[in-house]
Amino acid sequence: MNPPINLEELCFQTQKVVKEAADFIKGHSNKVGKEKIEFKSLNSLVSFVDKGAEEILVAGLSKLLPDSSFLVEEGTVERSSSDYEWLVDPLDGTTNFLHSIPPYAVSVGLNYKGSPIMGVVHEVNLNECFYAWKDGGAWLDGKSIKVSDTNDLKESLLATGFPYYDFSGLKPYLETLEYFMLNTRGLRRHGAAAIDLVYVACGRYEAYYEYSLQPYDISAGAFIVQEAGGIATDYEGGDNHVFSGQVIAGNPAIHQAVLEVVKGSFYS
Ligand code: IPD
Ligand code: CA
Ligand code: CA
Repeated sequence: MNPPINLEELCFQTQKVVKEAADFIKGHSNKVGKEKIEFKSLNSLVSFVDKGAEEILVAGLSKLLPDSSFLVEEGTVERSSSDYEWLVDPLDGTTNFLHSIPPYAVSVGLNYKGSPIMGVVHEVNLNECFYAWKDGGAWLDGKSIKVSDTNDLKESLLATGFPYYDFSGLKPYLETLEYFMLNTRGLRRHGAAAIDLVYVACGRYEAYYEYSLQPYDISAGAFIVQEAGGIATDYEGGDNHVFSGQVIAGNPAIHQAVLEVVKGSFYS
């Protein structure tokens, strides 16, 4: 069902709020000392920069849609219930950020009655803003973007995320890595799921896969891939990628090729 609002306009307003958060993050790049890093759980780092960026986003986005609810990473606002829900990762790639390595990004998705209708991902270092709204196509700084048309796995560059706290799927994951090392142009591990996804959307990668993600890692980027003509699914090929935490995103041909390998390793 389509929401009763002008999504294109809302998307442009959202980009302004996201840019404000990205500028805040940029202003603190290379400045967060080790003593300011907190540990949420195994290998899950956070600093005042993630929380400050989230506060900027929640304040700005609430003004755009006063009745909306939030699912945020850093817990600066409680999740409640509303037709409109923002899925917010204020700083995707926190470990990169804290080690002064690009890329890292602000990622904001919007659901209406449980279905994605908008996504904005702003990479801080290159200052690139990727965005999409429902049936409006996908964009990078005013230019329309599309997934790549490569249909041969051997000519494909893939992205992935290495397991770093949930090792329950390590064995099948390593099996997929071996297969793709032998049968693609190579794999990259950039350390920011939202970036991996939007790089698929604009054709820099043919596909990306990772498990044990959170909805706010996936929501915006996977929606942008779909609006760019790509496919996003979970590891079984179903549409529960945002909330299952497993995602395979790619152009249609390479998504299918990656799905067969990943599903084969994880589910047979
Ligand atoms: C992480 C990054 C990373 C991925 C992790 C995410 P964070 O997000 O996207 O690439 O491998 O699973 O949690 O913690 O930097 O927001
Ligand atoms: Ca994240
Ligand atoms: Ca984060």
